[in-house]
Amino acid sequence: MPLQHEHKWWKEGIVYQIYPASFKDSNNDGIGDIAGIISKLDYIRELGVDIIWISPHYKSPQVDMGYDISDYEDIHEPYGTVEDVEMLIQAVHDRGMRIIFDLVINHTSNLHAWFLESRSSKSNPKRDWYIWRPAKYDENGNRCRPNNWRSNFSEPAWTWDENTQEYYLHLYAAEQPDLNWENEECRHAIYDSAIRFWLEKGIDGFRVDTVNRYSKYPGLPDAEVTQPREETQIAFKYFTNGPRIHEFLREINDVLSEYDVFTVGELPNTPNESDVMQYISAQAKQLNMVFNFDTVGLGQTPGDRFRITPYGNVDFKRELTRWQRVIQDTDAWTTVFLENHDQGRSISRFASDVPEHRVMAGKMLAMILGTLTGTLFIYQGQEIGMINAPLTWPVEEYKCIRSVNYLKMISERLNHDPTALSKALKALQMVARDHARVPMQWDSTANAGFCSEAVEPWMSVVGSYMEINVADQIGRKDSLLEFWKKVLDLRKLHKDLFVYGRFQLIEQGDDLMTFTKHGGDMTSLTVANLSSEMKKWEIPSLVASTDMKLIIGNMKGPMDQLGPYEGRVYISSP
Ligand code: GLC
Ligand code: CA
Repeated sequence: MPLQHEHKWWKEGIVYQIYPASFKDSNNDGIGDIAGIISKLDYIRELGVDIIWISPHYKSPQVDMGYDISDYEDIHEPYGTVEDVEMLIQAVHDRGMRIIFDLVINHTSNLHAWFLESRSSKSNPKRDWYIWRPAKYDENGNRCRPNNWRSNFSEPAWTWDENTQEYYLHLYAAEQPDLNWENEECRHAIYDSAIRFWLEKGIDGFRVDTVNRYSKYPGLPDAEVTQPREETQIAFKYFTNGPRIHEFLREINDVLSEYDVFTVGELPNTPNESDVMQYISAQAKQLNMVFNFDTVGLGQTPGDRFRITPYGNVDFKRELTRWQRVIQDTDAWTTVFLENHDQGRSISRFASDVPEHRVMAGKMLAMILGTLTGTLFIYQGQEIGMINAPLTWPVEEYKCIRSVNYLKMISERLNHDPTALSKALKALQMVARDHARVPMQWDSTANAGFCSEAVEPWMSVVGSYMEINVADQIGRKDSLLEFWKKVLDLRKLHKDLFVYGRFQLIEQGDDLMTFTKHGGDMTSLTVANLSSEMKKWEIPSLVASTDMKLIIGNMKGPMDQLGPYEGRVYISSP
């Protein structure tokens, strides 16, 4: 008897991710806020969402959009106050939904009181809460960094502190110093301030930021030189999945286990399946599930995101189904997602965003996601089919630190060469984080209903809002939004099948994605045409010979033919 997945609310719940700066501005200062989120809770509930995840809303100088936290127990002022957030938690619970927060504890902001103390002197009691190292010197007596690591934002991972004459480590921006997890007192301060404080206010779990970087490789050795022309080197293996990471996660889990909550960890740079299993096996008591980068990372070079490599439907299918296969017959659990605040839009990246195809493509992706096993995550705007900003988007519109750093590097290094710049812009048009961070498209008024027409939003709205917006789609029978509602209803109605079922891929050529699910004595079959061409469909014997009926589809055509981006889901009659 194969192992059955144990049923849990956080496996069945549909999660909707909100990016607070860009969701809804309630007081017309051009920045989204907590009151704006509260004003849209009924919209979210109507969609069929059970759990809301909010990207960081904590106090922060916003060097990395709130992933640089200066006080875990306070709120970014333009978003609101702790009381507003308490109201939000209550309002979510009143509607029968749950809410999780982002937990960003690999690093703090350089303006966090802990870091200000730590950097104030070498003898400060919090000196050891961050990772300080003396300089090295070369044979000519020039000061050098303690090692050659490159940060995740393409710059050296060390910054010199004039005051105390040492370097500190930061795996992201210089304004995001890494906490020293080796220091026990520091760890306990994190648990109290970042975790318990909010659990006590009744939240239902955490999305754990960059969860596998807390433990660094002892001695912080130089990384192998793989790019001799660069002054820094890719060093993931020295700061990812380090020797004490599982011990630290078990400690966190001890805190969490006092509450009925769940965690989903962000697990970058971990391609090895057995490494991932150590985090998500229930028995290991670490994380309930993780986000793997297999699918969303397609086309991006690890350590060099904007060096784009080609990928196709075969890659998409392989990566999207990888965890279906790996967790089967184990006690581990997985996530199903194609978008978040760090990625381009799924219709643009994995299907087609041209006007004649994009709605169809959005529905097709919804059917695939809605019938895969795992906890389903939807990102704001995905439900209406928001697409990437176009190639003609002016370069100044890119605001994300990653995009800005990259553009700066390209133009400095290549001496403002216009061909290099245009190549860089092509890469950004596909995979920049900015595409997910533009204002949510609520209606077709000047600022897409995100804020009043009179103010300038913190990021410009993308021109597509005139065709792609909530007001146009709500209640319109053939819209993507209404289609998503139907998909989510079906997912809940047949959760043994769609949430928990056993997955099996049927090979039908490069551009068709066909799979069955089995669960609760029923069988389903999902078929999707991932291409813009008409495809002949070899009807699987399962459909031909048994009593399968179509429960949802995005086109009406001949049975043995699939139109561009057509998708269908069949189930056996109960
Ligand atoms: C995660 C976040 C990303 C952030 C980084 C540093 O990858 O998703 O937005 O920049 O961690 O905290
Ligand atoms: Ca506002």
